[in-house]
Amino acid sequence: MIEEIKTYYNELASTYDQNRFGNSYGTYIDIQERTYLEKRLPHNSTANILDLGCGTGRFMNYANHGVDISPKMIEIAQEKFPDKTINLGSVSQIPHPDAFFDIIFSFHVLMHLDKTAVTDFLNESHQKLKENGRLIFDFPSQKRRRLFNYKNKGWHGANALLIKDIENLIKQDWKIKQYQGILFFPIHRFPSSIRPLLQKIDTLFCKTFLKEYSSYLVIELEKAKR
Ligand SMILES: C[S@@+](CC[C@H](N)C(=O)[O-])C[C@H]1O[C@@H](n2cnc3c(N)ncnc32)[C@H](O)[C@@H]1O
Repeated sequence: MIEEIKTYYNELASTYDQNRFGNSYGTYIDIQERTYLEKRLPHNSTANILDLGCGTGRFMNYANHGVDISPKMIEIAQEKFPDKTINLGSVSQIPHPDAFFDIIFSFHVLMHLDKTAVTDFLNESHQKLKENGRLIFDFPSQKRRRLFNYKNKGWHGANALLIKDIENLIKQDWKIKQYQGILFFPIHRFPSSIRPLLQKIDTLFCKTFLKEYSSYLVIELEKAKR
């Protein structure tokens, strides 16, 4: 499956930015994710921060290292950020020394992974983070999918999880620091002209007791000693 994903992104690379984020739907998600990252990431330049599955570098302004399985996606990220270190690698093979990073974040990647790969991702991230390092990632919310009776088609959006699933996977290795939703309203059903007006109230819903009914969840874990 990993080869299929790599081929897909190699072929998509040159149009990815426009295709996914060059419209009001993509912009809407991008703004929510950036707002989240800007709140959770440190604003000093000394931290070692990895964007895992960095793609074309949408969030590489928040990281100093990037890793991805697709050489074509990396090529574009490296053109945009010539001074940053962007390497081939995967969620289960991060080509850096152990205990190297202060923070690893990963967006729009776990949705492609099966349960074994999610476990590998957690183990590998644990190994590459310093003590008390933080791991931030998003995934489609299983509660939302159940509500809308979503049927996944192939690997693309194959993985959806509950917070309970994460709790079961992380055991004593991590502490959950925080989580919230991304994209509460079914924004594709609203005319694009009113989408920007919904941002603030959407973000509010994403933080309430209803957050697990958002389209995606973004979670922050802190590495605990093994
Ligand atoms: C939807 S894109 C997201 C890119 C970027 N994180 C963003 O939010 O714009 C998914 C990226 O994950 C990468 N990817 C998929 N499976 C991966 C894996 N097992 N290890 C590392 N990267 C992976 C793909 O090559 C692709 O660049």
